[in-house]
Amino acid sequence: MTSADVQYRDARFPADFVWGAATAAYQIEGAAQDDGRGESIWDRFSHTPGKTINGDTGDVACDHYHRWRDDIRLMRDLNLNAYRLSISWPRVLPDGRGRINEAGLAFYDRLIDGLLEATITPWVTLYHWDLPQVLEDQGGWPNRKTADAFVEYADVVSRRLGDRVRNWITLNEPWCSGFLGYHSGEHAPGRKNPRDALQAMHVLLIAHGLAVPVLRRNSPQARVGITLNLTPAYPATDSVADRDAAHRYDGFFNRWFLDPLYGRGYPRDLISLYGPDLAPATDPSDFDVIATPTDFLGINYYSPAFVRDDPASAPLRVGIAPVPGAELTDMGWAIYPRGLYDLLLRVCRDYPTTALYITENGAAYDDAPSQDGRIEDPRRTRFYARHLAAAKAAIEDGAPLRGFFAWSLMDNFEWAFGYTKRFGIVYVDYATQERTIKESGRWYSRVAAGNRLLE
Ligand code: FCB
Repeated sequence: MTSADVQYRDARFPADFVWGAATAAYQIEGAAQDDGRGESIWDRFSHTPGKTINGDTGDVACDHYHRWRDDIRLMRDLNLNAYRLSISWPRVLPDGRGRINEAGLAFYDRLIDGLLEATITPWVTLYHWDLPQVLEDQGGWPNRKTADAFVEYADVVSRRLGDRVRNWITLNEPWCSGFLGYHSGEHAPGRKNPRDALQAMHVLLIAHGLAVPVLRRNSPQARVGITLNLTPAYPATDSVADRDAAHRYDGFFNRWFLDPLYGRGYPRDLISLYGPDLAPATDPSDFDVIATPTDFLGINYYSPAFVRDDPASAPLRVGIAPVPGAELTDMGWAIYPRGLYDLLLRVCRDYPTTALYITENGAAYDDAPSQDGRIEDPRRTRFYARHLAAAKAAIEDGAPLRGFFAWSLMDNFEWAFGYTKRFGIVYVDYATQERTIKESGRWYSRVAAGNRLLE
């Protein structure tokens, strides 16, 4: 055991623990032109030369739109009791709002029924990054009207599925939508304006807050939450400068979302760092909307940040240092299970959360089928074993963690990395669309069935 690991005492997970796997619509569905689906910002972005590796797009992806019955069978073989999927907004509302595409909605209707028949509980994310392109053309997420369009979309979907879906996630990782989409430009829509990015994140949070009561109304028995990609920030050294830098990074990445969601408004230290040129335009009433109480918090955890002071990088003045001694996945992300433990305990200590779910955790490795067709991916199994151990230790120490979703059910379109990064516990041969459960998937299925870690 290295210091990156955390020891648990008892291998058993609490009764009723949720064992799931996650996907997102644009990453797996394909069928980009089928049955009246509209264009999303990811269609436009991935079809723009130079934006994704190899020019890959989600046009076909895993063809889940046509193969969903087989994919539910896979979930059963994996002993999953839950599945986190996302809905494609432009499949349901091709024009962003207004006209409903019945065929698109009917697809999700069948999918939800299929999951329930297989006794797999659906966890539905409304927004996993595929904004209808027409809404981007009208200003995208920095435009306050996009929040109103989101509420309309949430209403349409929950009216149709709300009698059966009991777990709703409004947004996936608004930091990524805002920062990668509107500041760094690595993700759709590929804009590069820091002020727009902060404004986009603000409107995303308003959209979340406005949608919560709509989901509750249409789906009275459901629980509603949001998923954040939280990143524990550690100072690279013990110096005061590095400790302050880690605090700023924590503000930028974590407190910026957690504080307003839990009723504290934006962190003052960040507002003053951003200054009037960058800080979002807000109305005092926005903060009541954003702080609308939720039932759970979803956390996506992959890697920590070791942070050093970097006076040259305005306005945050943070630099990223290597994680001491850590192995890296194919994404170049450091493996640090202790980060998950620290994060879970910190969130429940600093914020009044009553239920936490790890809505994503996983690793990219490119293990290919061996001669006999098996996919031996011991590094992924070890990744999950170490993170589940840390999660279990956090439960023992008081974190209200109620479930875990592996990212991902199957290899898929990894955004700007196209098909070059394989996160699945199921292997996908993109030429034939054949699926094969990886050894890590077999391991995970035994953990899920036994509700306990394997020694
Ligand atoms: C997360 C995304 C998910 C996937 C993983 C690797 O940020 O939510 O869609 O790309 O990273």
